Amino acid sequence: MSFPKDFFWGAATSSYQIEGAYNIEGRGQSVWDTFCNKKNVVWNNQNGNTACSHYYQYKDDVSSMKNIGLNSYRLSISWPRVIPEGIGKVNQKGLDFYDKLVDELIDSGIEPFITLFHWDYPYELYAKGGWLNNDSPEWFFEYTKVIVDKLSDRVRNWITLNEPRCFVISGHEKGVHAPGDKLELKNISTIAHNALLAHGKAVQIIRSRSKQKCKIGFAPVGTVSVPATESKEDIKAARLFMFDTYENDLWHNSWWMDPVYLGKYPENGLEFLKDNSPAIKEGDMETISQPLDFFGITIYQAKKVKADEQGNPVVVPFEDGREITLMNWFVEPECLYWGPKFFYERYKTPIIIAENGMSNIDWVSTDGKVHDPQRINFLTRHLKELKRALEDNVDVSGYFHWSLMDNFEWAEGYKQRFGLIYIDYPSQKRILKDSAYWYKEVIKTNGNMI
Ligand code: FCB
Repeated sequence: MSFPKDFFWGAATSSYQIEGAYNIEGRGQSVWDTFCNKKNVVWNNQNGNTACSHYYQYKDDVSSMKNIGLNSYRLSISWPRVIPEGIGKVNQKGLDFYDKLVDELIDSGIEPFITLFHWDYPYELYAKGGWLNNDSPEWFFEYTKVIVDKLSDRVRNWITLNEPRCFVISGHEKGVHAPGDKLELKNISTIAHNALLAHGKAVQIIRSRSKQKCKIGFAPVGTVSVPATESKEDIKAARLFMFDTYENDLWHNSWWMDPVYLGKYPENGLEFLKDNSPAIKEGDMETISQPLDFFGITIYQAKKVKADEQGNPVVVPFEDGREITLMNWFVEPECLYWGPKFFYERYKTPIIIAENGMSNIDWVSTDGKVHDPQRINFLTRHLKELKRALEDNVDVSGYFHWSLMDNFEWAEGYKQRFGLIYIDYPSQKRILKDSAYWYKEVIKTNGNMI
């Protein structure tokens, strides 16, 4: 099988990374606003105050999406723009922005996929203890209700949380993302549990209040192992490394995915945590494991893994000179074959690639265009592998390129350009890169040119 005929060919963004308008029309502060105010936590002390000014230029941006031929677009909602204090009073103007954006997308024949939370947590809730506060799942539930009531007459695809592992570990344990905390493991497992409960509660409220039949998923980050050879032993070792190996922290697929899709925490994760395990109340696992319609996954890279004499997984370093992106991520196109295959095998839920792409040193050439052959090469090779997964009967229903446009790449600031569209930040001018025109052809042929 090749790409199915109703395949979602999309691109993704997130609110804080593109919107700007940080203090406009009643928006409250997010932890990313306050984090960026600290010295030397973001590259060149940059911030998302203006970003791509998408709040003002959203019509142009939707028109570029239409030009590229996207049939779907994954965006996220800024919680503090809609509810400035996180709970309580709704900011009508903030909500109206998403209302207009959704209309614009639908009028252009583009299916919106809405992510409810892509890291810009309301600062006022953080001040109340944030994800450590056991009321936090309820806060998310209330916020989700507001969004669903407003948009579910038109929106039928929902993603609850983006990469919970990243905001929990990078933001609360390593302190390299907002809010910049360095907490003990016990607190981290509590935060993780509350985030998963928030996910489950959001699913419940979407299902019960959506004005039409809808599809719901979440979007964990997928750390993928690619077997060094296709021997049975190496494949087994790669699978073990992806789901069963716990080392120094909770940066493991199964900790975030098993509770949601299998209704339980993995044994080896609990063994690793010991006394640091979260307090699990009666009914929690049922809440967390609400049935989902798709398995959104973000995949950028992979480790190569082989079996040692005893069959234990061993990571094989990439050869010298291996292609690498500006993020220092090695290029391993097979991640889009083995990733979807292993996740589908374990969780038996249709896959959507919620993010995949690369950051590149893109700049405007003397002919006024942006030539990005590396990105075209990267995408061709990754999509070929995705096609191979489909041919192997892995159920994949969509691919969202990260990102639609260059944007504020968190602690890396504006250094990293991931977009199909180039942003000239001082003038806010957009230029479609060569890869955007190439992607247009891919979409036109429904992937047959790959
Ligand atoms: C993912 C994030 C996204 C972007 C890409 C490069 O981890 O979800 O916002 O930063 O990486």
